[in-house]
Amino acid sequence: MLKKEIAMSEQFSALREQALAKLKATSTLTDLEQWRVAYLGKKGQLSLTLRSIGQLPKDERPQAGQAANVLKKLLEEAYASRQEVLKADDLARTISQEALDVTLPGHPATQGRLHLTTRTLREIYGIFAQMGFQVVRSREVESDLYNFQLLNIPPHHPARDMWSTFHTTREGVVLRTHTSPGQIHTMRRFCPEPIRVILPGRAYRFEQVTARAEFMFYNIEGLAIGRHITLADLKGTLVNFARRMFGPERELRFRANYFPFTEPSAEADMDCIICGGKGCRICKYTGWVEILGSGMVHPKVLANGGYDPEVFSGFAFGMGLERIAMLKHRIDDIRYFYSNDLRFLNQFS
Ligand code: DAH
Repeated sequence: MLKKEIAMSEQFSALREQALAKLKATSTLTDLEQWRVAYLGKKGQLSLTLRSIGQLPKDERPQAGQAANVLKKLLEEAYASRQEVLKADDLARTISQEALDVTLPGHPATQGRLHLTTRTLREIYGIFAQMGFQVVRSREVESDLYNFQLLNIPPHHPARDMWSTFHTTREGVVLRTHTSPGQIHTMRRFCPEPIRVILPGRAYRFEQVTARAEFMFYNIEGLAIGRHITLADLKGTLVNFARRMFGPERELRFRANYFPFTEPSAEADMDCIICGGKGCRICKYTGWVEILGSGMVHPKVLANGGYDPEVFSGFAFGMGLERIAMLKHRIDDIRYFYSNDLRFLNQFS
């Protein structure tokens, strides 16, 4: 064997011993990668050694090349098996260190529910639907004409004091103060057909917000027009509603009142569901709670809707939706409805 050849094969075996020892010492995948760069990388030890083969005399090169390839293969195989060991270690470490405690309570998926207002509205639609009333919607931004004048409330009439009004920057355009303007829209739409509708929706009043009053609230308006409608129909309809909504033992009492759009007009009081009429804080010790306004549609309003008051008659009523819900669920402050407090809202499902 020639001298150089001996030197070369010694170099190979030294490299092999060193590389394998270092490989054995690797304990993480990061170590292993450093090892790979150092020994098998483009500028690693093995490449350097291979390059030096070029300086050997021509006849010695094949043998040296062959030995180098054997070494390369050996190191690559050693690398692959070390990689497997370290990967398995790594996985085992991850599993033990980052173990999930599946018995910890999770985050419950919260399920939405209908707002109390929506629920109450739907309940009321259901009751009136069974009496033949259909739901009609009407706009929230109204003209002075529909909100007042066509309902027999002329400009400057003192009756306007009944409704503190939100005016807009457009002259003669208001946020409706009640759902009653829907009566005119409905009459004009269906005239000369008979009508039996309820008109639900928001109404707005420029008022101090208190436990009993919001500046925005829901109204439910009712309107029935026909050739033979009487006050008895009004009473029968409303008593039926009160009993379906609040219990079969409920009584209503009609108290004469004034509304410009009905004649005669009456407010309906229901015997107090809290004390059963004996007297309590809710009914202010009278045994009765006011639940709605009503009356026979005023002849002028009928005419404004297109109906001949000599031939047609009708009744109308209007109630505050939240007030109905408050009585039913014994809620003592209207401000809970729209302050988005889930502790309140979640109670109604
Ligand atoms: N619109 C009245 C209000 O907001 C309620 C009302 C009373 C409506 C009598 C009616 C009615 O249809 O006939 O106070």
